[in-house]
Amino acid sequence: MKSIIITGGAGFIGSHVVRLFVNKYPDYKIINVDKLTYAGNLANLKDIENAPNYRFVKADICDFQTIYSLMQEEKVVGVIHLAAESHVDRSIKDPFSFAQTNVMGTLSLLQAAKLYWDSLPEKYEGKRFYHISTDEVYGALELNHPEGINSPQTQHKVYGDDFFRETNKYQPHSPYSAAKASSDHFVRAFHDTYGLPTIVTNCSNNYGPYQFPEKLIPLFINNIRHRKPLPVYGKGENVRDWLYVEDHARAIDLIFHKGKIADTYNIGGFNEWKNIDIVKVLIKVVDEALGRKENEDLDLITYVTDRAGHDLRYAIDATNLQKELGWSPSLQFEEGIRKTVQWYLNNQAWLDNITSGEYEKYYEEMYKNR
Ligand code: NAD
Ligand code: TYD
Repeated sequence: MKSIIITGGAGFIGSHVVRLFVNKYPDYKIINVDKLTYAGNLANLKDIENAPNYRFVKADICDFQTIYSLMQEEKVVGVIHLAAESHVDRSIKDPFSFAQTNVMGTLSLLQAAKLYWDSLPEKYEGKRFYHISTDEVYGALELNHPEGINSPQTQHKVYGDDFFRETNKYQPHSPYSAAKASSDHFVRAFHDTYGLPTIVTNCSNNYGPYQFPEKLIPLFINNIRHRKPLPVYGKGENVRDWLYVEDHARAIDLIFHKGKIADTYNIGGFNEWKNIDIVKVLIKVVDEALGRKENEDLDLITYVTDRAGHDLRYAIDATNLQKELGWSPSLQFEEGIRKTVQWYLNNQAWLDNITSGEYEKYYEEMYKNR
């Protein structure tokens, strides 16, 4: 059995990746290393927790000694690294924990993998260190077409003339993206300096089941259901490129197995949406699902002070990944959103468990001062 560490496997994207690998590869032993911060939730993995090829280890990736010993004990041949502090608004309030986990934690994992693999006779042969990152490292794009245009070049609706490509320079604006950018640089530095077999991918915004309800889509689904205000930052004109989380997990599987060492791949949905348009779609779909009158909840929309340094537009050009490895998103957004809304409505207990207690206090605090 090949042992693979997946970090952050109790979080949103990580849980989908762990599930996919545990079910698809019975000959891999999947070791989920997660500190279980507020964002980590073992309830995300109930369906596979007793699988014979799965092990959960509660650990902080910054704890070098524990990670190094685990790699030796389990004879780890691959790392898929997702553990991170991931919410931009939190990074504005508390940048230190972002630098700690995203930068120092990544460095600790890199060093542990390097030292352990260096100690083996075959060294880096058959090994892989795959770092999952974000498109936010590239900064923000212009919004040249405020109403969006159907671009014959890209075959989908776009809001600007430019896209994030793998060759774009890094221009992070938030403490979150600055910390992720720094971790990407460390990963590449370990390849260039020591020859560690690394791969980096930068993905656009994900949505789907098990996303922590501080992020736009699950937060708003929950608020619409409970008829709470929907805090739209600024004018709601910021644009994001949305990808269904299982499509991201599929891309990670493909790239982990077939991607070129030392390469970077951008992953995106070819699916740009203005925030305010997403909010309106969510209201429509949730109201419909709950048997409410059409658009009954439009008046929940509440424009609030904009996020500091709010990036205007993200849009990924994923043609490289499409051409090289044949990946493309499998779901249309309308279908993905319906599935997602239905999942949150069917899993109210999962949501209630999170949105009570400590998290609720944090959330109230966050909005008190806006
Ligand atoms: P998440 O916040 O839902 O989950 C993060 C997980 O990491 C949690 O389970 C948490 O307990 C764990 N964790 C945090 N600090 C840790 C530490 N020090 N040691 C061990 N575990 C720790 O995040 P997510 O949205 O699933 O994102 C996963 C990864 O994908 C991140 O690296 C993020 O930057 C990247 N990413 C996310 C998106 C997105 O839209 N969510 C898009 C592109 C890239
Ligand atoms: P988010 O889900 O936090 O992802 P990211 O900041 O990583 O893109 O936010 C998505 C977009 O929605 C972003 O432009 C900020 C906006 N937003 C709101 O308008 N209100 C909210 O309450 C939240 C959480 C986000």
